[in-house]
Amino acid sequence: MKKLKNWDNKTWLSSKSYIFHFNKFLKTKIKLNKNSKILDIGCGRANIISALQKKYKFKSKPIGIDVVANKDVKKNIVFKKIEALKYLKKQKKYDLILIKQTIHFFTKTKLNHLLNLSKKSLNPKGKILIFSLKKKNNKIPCFKKMRKNLEKSLKRDEVLFKIIKKNLKEISYTNFNFKVNISKQKYVRMIRERYISCLLNMSNKEVEFGISEIKSKYKRKIQFNDVLEGIIYKN
Ligand SMILES: C[S@@+](CC[C@H](N)C(=O)[O-])C[C@H]1O[C@@H](n2cnc3c(N)ncnc32)[C@H](O)[C@@H]1O
Repeated sequence: MKKLKNWDNKTWLSSKSYIFHFNKFLKTKIKLNKNSKILDIGCGRANIISALQKKYKFKSKPIGIDVVANKDVKKNIVFKKIEALKYLKKQKKYDLILIKQTIHFFTKTKLNHLLNLSKKSLNPKGKILIFSLKKKNNKIPCFKKMRKNLEKSLKRDEVLFKIIKKNLKEISYTNFNFKVNISKQKYVRMIRERYISCLLNMSNKEVEFGISEIKSKYKRKIQFNDVLEGIIYKN
């Protein structure tokens, strides 16, 4: 798969409001304090752990790893451009391992490796939190071909979730819901910049055709619920 570069490039996913609500939600799932050690796998621009660092002032800065090093990755965390499995083999220990909207980049075998290594990298009482897009009746605004690709990816996520359940065994479930209110103009820009992985392998012509579909389908403002399904594993 081509590299994803614009997921959190001035989108609702990097907005202050989204990060605030996500971290408020996170607080209900895990107790953090200044001694907590955090690893964010597939951190993108590291907005989430950067906001956590501002709030908790952790003694050890959170680690964010990603295969893409964006220029504007947050500076108050430790960022490493490295593939997740390679990094996890270092066997450092964490209280929270966050894997948000990243598992779809893994094959089934690699996902099992990722989970096994993540379990080994947890402190006693540490938690792994995994999130991915809601699989049924997902409301992300799409044009036809984009929807087809997204549905295919969400079907694959169902298989990946089964693998996670089988591997981690004792887990609990959660949902995160964020109301998106975005101008059509901004959303068109996001599509053109291929913000989501189901756009990565499309030709420019397909994307431009899709944009004209979005332009005629939606009014000036686009509103929808961005819903994530989460799995929580506790050591
Ligand atoms: C959809 S983005 C999610 C970013 C961030 N977690 C968030 O929720 O805003 C997925 C990220 O995972 C990264 N990624 C994909 N495969 C990876 C791997 N094997 N190791 C580390 N990062 C990876 C991508 O480069 C991308 O930045």
